Amino acid sequence: MTGVEPLLQVRGLVKAYHDRTVLAGVDLDVAEHEVVVLIGASGSGKSTLLRCIDLLEEIDDGQIILGGRDISDPRVDAEQARQAIGMVFQSFNLFPHMTALSNVALAPRVVHGRSRTEAEQRSRDLLERVGMASHADSYPDKLSGGQQQRVAIARALAYEPKLLLLDEITSALDPELVGEVLTLVGELAGSGATIVMATHEMAFARDVADTVCFLSDGQIVESGSAAYVLDSPRQERTQRFLQRFTSGR
Ligand SMILES: Nc1ncnc2c1ncn2[C@@H]1O[C@H](COP(=O)(O)OP(=O)(O)O)[C@@H](O)[C@H]1O
Ligand SMILES: [Mg+2]
Repeated sequence: MTGVEPLLQVRGLVKAYHDRTVLAGVDLDVAEHEVVVLIGASGSGKSTLLRCIDLLEEIDDGQIILGGRDISDPRVDAEQARQAIGMVFQSFNLFPHMTALSNVALAPRVVHGRSRTEAEQRSRDLLERVGMASHADSYPDKLSGGQQQRVAIARALAYEPKLLLLDEITSALDPELVGEVLTLVGELAGSGATIVMATHEMAFARDVADTVCFLSDGQIVESGSAAYVLDSPRQERTQRFLQRFTSGR
């Protein structure tokens, strides 16, 4: 792999559920350290695209190439390949019977075979990084939604992922908690993380995205800088989506 090759290359990705095509040939390149924001109406295929990249879905055609390796090849061990990818979902997926620390410690223990003490220390460092060190011993139900999402991000980071996939991670949060999570994502982006993120937070996309992709009916209709896609889109479908969006859905 050369330095200029994208970290992630999605090639001609097709995904159907039953007879219904949900991704109709998606091509997407993501360079190392790039932040790509996926926008589009509900049902346009954002989550499916992220889930396919994370090898949570079987794909019908195309390739997913990570670090020069075709991880969508059926001969590849998906569990092993997925360890290079961290994914955070809209709903908080912490284990309710485990403390914040244990939720994070699970990953390094399982994946890297570290000792309990090492895993705990690393998990404390990760909780510190997401501003949750003082809540290490709290159970999820004692944390706000924003705090739970920050722990979920720490858990995703515990895998030392090459790529972070974030699927509408602020959509289920009370409005006053959205900011703390987006600030953290902005910090991760600033520290060089490679991120593909589905979101409806347009102001955030404008600030942080290197590339914005507008999806409609399972296709990337238009992509480019935030200034281009959000402020002067060429495609009518993008214009219509953004109009509907700014006029309050
Ligand atoms: N497991 C599934 N089975 C059948 N249809 C699905 C499944 N998951 C998603 N879909 C359909 O795929 C389309 C795209 O969904 P999704 O990727 O969740 O869109 P978005 O995240 O942009 O809202 C929707 O029409 C949805 O109903
Ligand atoms: Mg979705």
